[in-house]
Amino acid sequence: MREVLKSMDGQLTQLPKIAPIVTGDGSASFYNNQVGETYHSRSGAAREAIEKFCRPSGLGRLAGQGRAVIYDICFGLGYNTAAALDMILECNPECLVDVYGFELDPSILEMTGQVTPPFNSYPLVREASKNLDATFGSASIKIFLGDVRQELDKAPRPADVVFFDPFSPCKEPELWSRELFRAIHSRMHPGAVLTTYSCASKVRQALDEAGFEVADGPCVGQRSTSTVAYRP
Ligand SMILES: C[S@@+](CC[C@H](N)C(=O)[O-])C[C@H]1O[C@@H](n2cnc3c(N)ncnc32)[C@H](O)[C@@H]1O
Repeated sequence: MREVLKSMDGQLTQLPKIAPIVTGDGSASFYNNQVGETYHSRSGAAREAIEKFCRPSGLGRLAGQGRAVIYDICFGLGYNTAAALDMILECNPECLVDVYGFELDPSILEMTGQVTPPFNSYPLVREASKNLDATFGSASIKIFLGDVRQELDKAPRPADVVFFDPFSPCKEPELWSRELFRAIHSRMHPGAVLTTYSCASKVRQALDEAGFEVADGPCVGQRSTSTVAYRP
């Protein structure tokens, strides 16, 4: 029983579902006691968002073109979105950016009020987490609350970039599936990019079967290499 602790006086105490942790780069994250996993790499939550999800996704080129549509699948605390907005708006403050976030659990959205990651765009993420919608200047975030498998088709525009960030394939195999990758693929522009932290061969095979071209992404911290998948 992972969620229950026995205290010194023999009382059973409920563990909080989501408990705070500090990761290796000093940025905050949480541990989910029901799932038995953290929301980010323990080596650095902010660093993971920047290095594994944003850098390999070609955001600089999209910023130069002045238009970007991002799907942040498994939005959580929204670190991937915040890092992407910072990167794009530093290159081109006028760039039109639409982020569509997909998140099942409203309680993690509430936690955005308790963390201060090193992203200039984080106030916009906090506002979107509260109201499911937020706009500042040329950037907007809309969050679809529910199972991404049901919500994906509600995004009004096809994606240029997809961040794919569920809990691990052994905890959520139904999300790392050929069926969901096919659905995502069909919502992406030709040439669009999906980035994810996993390099598991089953995951890469499912991406390949869904029609993606699969390549190694960067290796950050102690975890092995990540994956970058292109829609041809
Ligand atoms: C590893 S965490 C993602 C961390 C996040 N990208 C961030 O920057 O904080 C996985 C997230 O996926 C969400 N999730 C799990 N199953 C989901 C589903 N079927 N649809 C949408 N979100 C889901 C969880 O609630 C959790 O917030």
